[in-house]
Amino acid sequence: MTTTAPRTSSAPRHHDTPGFPEGFRWGAATAAYQIEGAADEDGRTPSIWDTFSRTPGKVRNGDTGDIAADHYHRMREDVALMAELGLMDYRFSVSWPRVQPTGRGPAVQKGLDFYRALVDELLDHRIRPVLTLYHWDLPQELEDAGGWPVRDTAERFAEYAGLVADALGDRVPLWTTLNEPWCSAFLGYAQGVHAPGRTEPEAALRAAHHLLLGHGLAVGVLRERLPVPAQVSLTLNLAAVRPHTGSAADADAVRRVDALANRIWLDPVFRGSYPEDLRRDTAALTDWSFVEDGDLAVISRPVDALGLNYYAPTVVAAGGHAGPSPWPGAEEHVRFVPVPGPRTAMDWPVDAGGLHELLLRLRLRLRDELPDTPLLITENGAAYDDYADPEGEVHDPERIAYLHAHLAAVHRAIADGADVQGYFLWSLLDNFEWAYGYSKRFGVVHVDFASRRRTPKDSARWYAGVVARGGLPSK
Ligand code: FCB
Repeated sequence: MTTTAPRTSSAPRHHDTPGFPEGFRWGAATAAYQIEGAADEDGRTPSIWDTFSRTPGKVRNGDTGDIAADHYHRMREDVALMAELGLMDYRFSVSWPRVQPTGRGPAVQKGLDFYRALVDELLDHRIRPVLTLYHWDLPQELEDAGGWPVRDTAERFAEYAGLVADALGDRVPLWTTLNEPWCSAFLGYAQGVHAPGRTEPEAALRAAHHLLLGHGLAVGVLRERLPVPAQVSLTLNLAAVRPHTGSAADADAVRRVDALANRIWLDPVFRGSYPEDLRRDTAALTDWSFVEDGDLAVISRPVDALGLNYYAPTVVAAGGHAGPSPWPGAEEHVRFVPVPGPRTAMDWPVDAGGLHELLLRLRLRLRDELPDTPLLITENGAAYDDYADPEGEVHDPERIAYLHAHLAAVHRAIADGADVQGYFLWSLLDNFEWAYGYSKRFGVVHVDFASRRRTPKDSARWYAGVVARGGLPSK
């Protein structure tokens, strides 16, 4: 982001952190393909992730989401677990091919019934449902017709949004259109490490635009069709990007990553335009003629909240090389520099300061340049190599330390003026971690993938305490 550096905090350190603001929402998050399983049941058809995971060599150990955490059959048990933790909110996603097989035509009642039962179960336990329409599981038939690089996919997404709105609109108070469109567009269509596994940088930029168009069209449909007022939002994985050195060349690397990770989404959604420097940087790939008259007005329909997913900061320097990369047009201009210090099992650095920086930079942008919009941390968490000990307990002190430090960073950012209204831990359950399969465990509840037995980890009990007291423990 191009704003001045955030103010540093004079707020209390985490050891004497008081409570979070009144009304702050405490939740946990999951996504359909990562937990549901039941891949071929009740009329569900394959999504791009079914196809990708069944393609040899794409996902570690050949893992698929066929059974996953078997949440489809254990939904009531899982909601009971959430209630035990005292969660206020539960963020889940709807599987598009479960409710609208093949991505066209009428909804399948059994698919809708599953989500209706989930929502009712949540409400019965006084847990607020927070629904994401798209967490990466595009119906395969829509990919066969061209996928997100094709404009019609945006229209199809809006139609699907309408089906879900009609079925669940009377009881879901917070809706998210897309989760992390950066991953869908650039990991999926440029680097090819996520479904559908294409390595076409120009198509990836078209995908980015059509994801945004789908978002805007869906916002319109939700506003029109939801029978009761509800909040509508979008979740982005914005980059907390830092330069390796103070050189002008490294500053330019930061600018390029900021353009492709942050401003490519924030500017169209909040200002109705694409960044000029992004258009220049990508001029050798595309003339952006896929942006049609009126698209940006649709994309910039107001949203009620912005969701942020944060895991680790990014440090960049000038450099790079050609080849498949999730940075179309920047491949040869940006090099990623390892961040020193402790790391999670994903090999991601543990650096809570990055979350504070990101929230403060965003706060300044929202104050000075973009419409003022409440923020939600819709994902934050860490993978570690957890295992059940002979007593059947799962001790995960590193995860507790990670969560503590990141919640303290959120608290400091709020004290410094960021309007953060809720926090969703990623993730409730160990699950299918995309290209890493079941090798990475992000849950606060351990899942034995042979028996599907759930065991709350120490971090689950720790988080239940945070929720109950509305703040961090004083140690
Ligand atoms: C995010 C995804 C989520 C999960 C976490 C670890 O990018 O939204 O599904 O895989 O990373």
